[in-house]
Amino acid sequence: MRVLVTGSTGYLGSALLFHLKDTEYKVKITSRKRPQDWQQLDWVYSDLVSGEGLEDAVKDVDVIIHAATSPMKNIKKVEIEGLGNLLSKLQHIQHFIYPSIVGIEEIPWKYYHLKLEAEELLSKSTVPYTIARATQFHGFVENLLLSKPFFNRYVIPGRWKVQSVDVHEFAMHLIDLVDIGPQERVEDYGGPEIMTIREMAEVKINTKKEENLVFDVSLPGRISKAFVEGKNTNINIQKGKVTFEQFLRNK
Ligand SMILES: NC(=O)c1ccc[n+]([C@@H]2O[C@H](COP(=O)([O-])OP(=O)(O)OC[C@H]3O[C@@H](n4cnc5c(N)ncnc54)[C@H](OP(=O)(O)O)[C@@H]3O)[C@@H](O)[C@H]2O)c1
Repeated sequence: MRVLVTGSTGYLGSALLFHLKDTEYKVKITSRKRPQDWQQLDWVYSDLVSGEGLEDAVKDVDVIIHAATSPMKNIKKVEIEGLGNLLSKLQHIQHFIYPSIVGIEEIPWKYYHLKLEAEELLSKSTVPYTIARATQFHGFVENLLLSKPFFNRYVIPGRWKVQSVDVHEFAMHLIDLVDIGPQERVEDYGGPEIMTIREMAEVKINTKKEENLVFDVSLPGRISKAFVEGKNTNINIQKGKVTFEQFLRNK
């Protein structure tokens, strides 16, 4: 079976490549930049905005794990128009696996609205698919909020709740779905604990023996309210085992 990973330079894409190397699947990868660590893999340039390279990328593959995304720039062009264009070229595909995000109906962020629209687009297409939603990745939360102390302080929306999950566990879950075949929508995949960002900052300070202080800010608006209420979490779906603390220690 030949598996194409889109977004092969990304956070999830890289984890997928790391675990696919231990499988018997033939792996093909696509992104705009060539991933430096995977020179031995069959890489094809493609751009979801212009459509360039997509035909070549999907040629001769059976399964696609679509890890390409663009949350900040050209969002609609990548998430919806690019996906629509890609789907129109997939009559031969046995299984299209779409990673999505827990709680996107309830968080009024444009990127999340478009992820939901993308799920609908996929479900109305003729392509056999699986939608697998995950909570935020540990590394994503850390990079976004806890990587750059400001004058030895983490200035953070401390009351936001997160149930972050290890990207490698989710990547392995997606790879398991390749064999299982199209499921339409599988149960969501969440991390082992729900924590506030403040608690995560304290875990990081203790684990890394940092001197940083924590300074909470209260952000206005409906997006922030949704994160404070933990709409991106679900206590019933604790599938990942690696805690945020273990993730930091393993880095
Ligand atoms: N991050 C999280 O916490 C999280 C949690 C749950 C689910 N997810 C989902 O997991 C998936 C992957 O997320 P991620 O965090 O791994 O994303 P990421 O690190 O931002 O990676 C995005 C990938 O998309 C590619 N890309 C961007 N624009 C493109 C374009 N115009 N054409 C083709 N490729 C393009 C990028 O490669 P080039 O720039 O080289 O093209 C990169 O490889 C997404 O569907 C996301 O919604 C993420």
